[in-house]
Amino acid sequence: MVSFDAMDTHSDVIVLGAGVIGLSLAFELAQQNLRVSVFDIGLAFSGASSAAGGMLVPWTEVHEPNALQQLCTDSFAMYPSYVSRLQRYGNVTLRLSGVLEIAHTAERMAEFERRATALQDAGIDAHMLHMNDLADEEPLVAHDALGGLLTRAGGCVANRELGHALHAACAANDVALYEHVASPEIVHDDERVIGVRIGGALHAGTTVINAMGAWANNAIGVPTSCAIPVSPVRGQLISLRTCDETNLRRVTWSQGIYAVPRGDGNIDIGATSENVGFDVRNTKEGTLGLLDAARRAFPTLHESSCFRAWAGLRPATPDGWPILGKTPLDGYLLATGHYRHGILLAPITASLMAKAVVTNDYSELTPFALERQSLHHASEVVC
Ligand code: GLY
Repeated sequence: MVSFDAMDTHSDVIVLGAGVIGLSLAFELAQQNLRVSVFDIGLAFSGASSAAGGMLVPWTEVHEPNALQQLCTDSFAMYPSYVSRLQRYGNVTLRLSGVLEIAHTAERMAEFERRATALQDAGIDAHMLHMNDLADEEPLVAHDALGGLLTRAGGCVANRELGHALHAACAANDVALYEHVASPEIVHDDERVIGVRIGGALHAGTTVINAMGAWANNAIGVPTSCAIPVSPVRGQLISLRTCDETNLRRVTWSQGIYAVPRGDGNIDIGATSENVGFDVRNTKEGTLGLLDAARRAFPTLHESSCFRAWAGLRPATPDGWPILGKTPLDGYLLATGHYRHGILLAPITASLMAKAVVTNDYSELTPFALERQSLHHASEVVC
């Protein structure tokens, strides 16, 4: 039995994790007049959310027309209004200049043709570029390319600015944020969640949402039926400083890497995909591999210097889809496992989860539920 004397705080909703998902959720819930507390084992927005390239490419990383692609599409559509809502708390740069994918083989061109047709059938502005058009669309691309797929809807958000604005938005909406806390213990009775215990103090909450990303299993005291099949997949990135501020026009994928122009003369290049546990170090192979691929993809960057290298841990699930909604423990919810799509999916995750909490109707989240078959029957984590 939990002693109620020991309670230090009471919230309507406790969010565990202050990454892009946790802070977006907290902001959305606070806007519904709920009392929200957020706890993070590190610094807010310092993990994968800060490490990300900030790409908003709903049809580049998910090719099948399925529920995940629809979620990505819907979240992408929310971005302009989401950023407008956040602008009053801090500047957030949104660049919707499209995304270009480059092919060097006939097989890749054929795949792009199929995807271009499917995107056009869905009413999305996408078309093939052949060798001669490429130089006009993107002068930096190497001349050995055969062609490309240009999707005009797409782009990137300055994710670190997004983090600052979300932090300020939470503060302005009375969200209590606790950083560098010990691993939270989920406190529950036989029926439902009661709160979390952190460093000996019990924080009561009607609803507890685990948004801890790759660290989702760091929450302790969770019934085995609520175990979360999430594991870290490391992504290393580098940043190149270029001489010319008008360099790459848009997010561009080539030679196994993506390049995100940051608008200040810097281009972020990503990313590796490695199963190395919770190791967030950069390696010589990772850094040099990205640099080499970037210089092959964009030869005029040959002179540019690599001035920063960093890494983040994507929260991967066995089927590559996020886990959203209820668990067998009443009041204990999940919003994690966003893998490659955390920045893109933040607005829709916050909106759908907040709606479900307020209405107690989780039906819209069914494809992403913890009990879905593909989460437990896939043989290994998607990498
Ligand atoms: N979405 C980009 C990445 O995960 O590297």
